[in-house]
Formats: sequence, C-alpha cells, structure tokens
Amino acid sequence: MLTLAEVRAGYGSTRVLHAVTLEVTAGECTAVLGRNGVGKSTLLRCIAGLVPLNSGRITLDGRDVSSLPAFRRARLGVSHVPQGRGIFAGLTVQENLRVGPAAQRPAAAAATAERLLEEFPTLGAMANSKGGSLSGGQQQLLALARALATQPRLLLLDEPSEGIQPSILDEIAAVLARIRAERHIALVLVEQNLDFAARLAERAHVMVKGELVATVDTAELAADRDQQRHYMAI
Ligand SMILES: Nc1ncnc2c1ncn2[C@@H]1O[C@H](COP(=O)(O)OP(=O)(O)OP(=O)(O)O)[C@@H](O)[C@H]1O
Ligand SMILES: [Mg+2]
Repeated sequence: MLTLAEVRAGYGSTRVLHAVTLEVTAGECTAVLGRNGVGKSTLLRCIAGLVPLNSGRITLDGRDVSSLPAFRRARLGVSHVPQGRGIFAGLTVQENLRVGPAAQRPAAAAATAERLLEEFPTLGAMANSKGGSLSGGQQQLLALARALATQPRLLLLDEPSEGIQPSILDEIAAVLARIRAERHIALVLVEQNLDFAARLAERAHVMVKGELVATVDTAELAADRDQQRHYMAI
C-alpha cells in the first residue's frame, strides 16, 4: 500500500536519508531498526509529509503523494505517532482524545473519544486524569488511541517502547498486534529496542547512516550478539 523509491531527504543542506527504498503491505508490521541518529525519525516524517523530499517518490495505493502536505496525507489515512508521543500534558485523557480528529464536529469527536475509552480500558479508567500524570506506558497508549481516532490505514510508530517499563511493553505490543489484525492497518515501526520489534515483526530493515543496508530475521538477530554489534552497535 505504501512504497518509497530512492527517497533522499534531510534538513537544509544536511542530507539524512540516502536513496531509501521500502515497500509496506496492508495488515503487516514493517520494522526499521537502527541506532541513535541514523535517520529513523526523519524517515517517518518524510512518509507523514513533515519533511520534504530532495528526490525520490512516495506512493500510497499507487498514488504519488511525494509533494502532498501532511494534512492531505492524514486524510488519506496516514497517522504518525511521533517520538516522545506528542500528547497534551495539561489536558485530560478524554480531552486528548477529542482534540485529535480536527475535521470532526464536537459531537462526533466526543463519540470517537467514548469509543476509544471503551476500546482501551486502561485509558477508560483514567479518563479524567491529566495526560502529564500518566506513566510512560499509559501515555503511549493514549498516543496510540489518539492516532486511531482518525481511522488510519497506515500507522507510523516512532520508538513506542522508548522510556516504558518492561512490564508494560507486553501490553503495548499486544495492543499493536491487535490493532494491526483487527483493523487491517499497515504499521511502520521504528525501533532501537530489538526485542520489542521482534514481538511484532518477523523481519526488519536495518538503517545505518540514512541507508537501509539489510533485511534481517528479527528472532535470529535477537539471538546473535555479533550481528547486533554489526548492525546496531549495541
Ligand atoms: N529538525 C532537524 N534539523 C536539523 N537536523 C536534524 C533535525 N532532526 C534531526 N536532525 C539530524 O538528522 C539526523 C537523523 O536524525 P533522526 O532524528 O532522524 O535520527 P533517529 O534515527 O530518529 O535518532 P534517535 O534514535 O535518536 O531518535 C541526525 O544527525 C540529527 O541530528
Ligand atoms: Mg528518532
């Protein structure tokens, strides 16, 4: 459903992505692994329309979206959960869920929020708590729920495991697996946490200095320290 062909992009004169080619299928989780600063977030921002391409092409269901602004891509079903989650700390859980879908009327936004609070009981129990008072894992759930408010077909996840206690990672992984299966959504998961990525994707692309250099079996990589050092400098 999503393809990137020879995508090059960066910030000003700094080139970050070098000829990235990638294919993402509906209902699957496409993982991209890489150490700090290699360009993982930049890749997701390019797909979301937040960083312009220097060259190359991005297509969504065969349509060239390379120069569409972010809000038009969002309307086509692209939803981006940024690194650090991007929730509103001063708003309650319920309010966070209402301010997501900008195009909705207030009544529809409230109904969407109610539906999401039911779908995510952990959030339902904290509907009136401020976003900023939630734990890292709860904030990640809230960010996911917000991303789902727009009924996306493509979910871009930027290091969802970052800063989350190991005990809650299982819940986040299970929620993502359920979302993918039940909603038949395509996931692009960017991670440094190999074990977390391995729970959701059998294979992963490895990014080194803005290039996708290899495709690996995540279970094999998780068991192979030498390969980990080689690809991720862990
Ligand atoms: N807004 C920006 N302006 C200029 N340079 C940036 C900007 N954002 C990122 N960079 C640079 O682009 C490169 C890639 O950054 P990016 O955030 O995509 O990496 P990353 O793989 O997501 O890293 P991390 O694992 O730390 O999140 C880095 O050298 C970074 O300093
Ligand atoms: Mg990043």
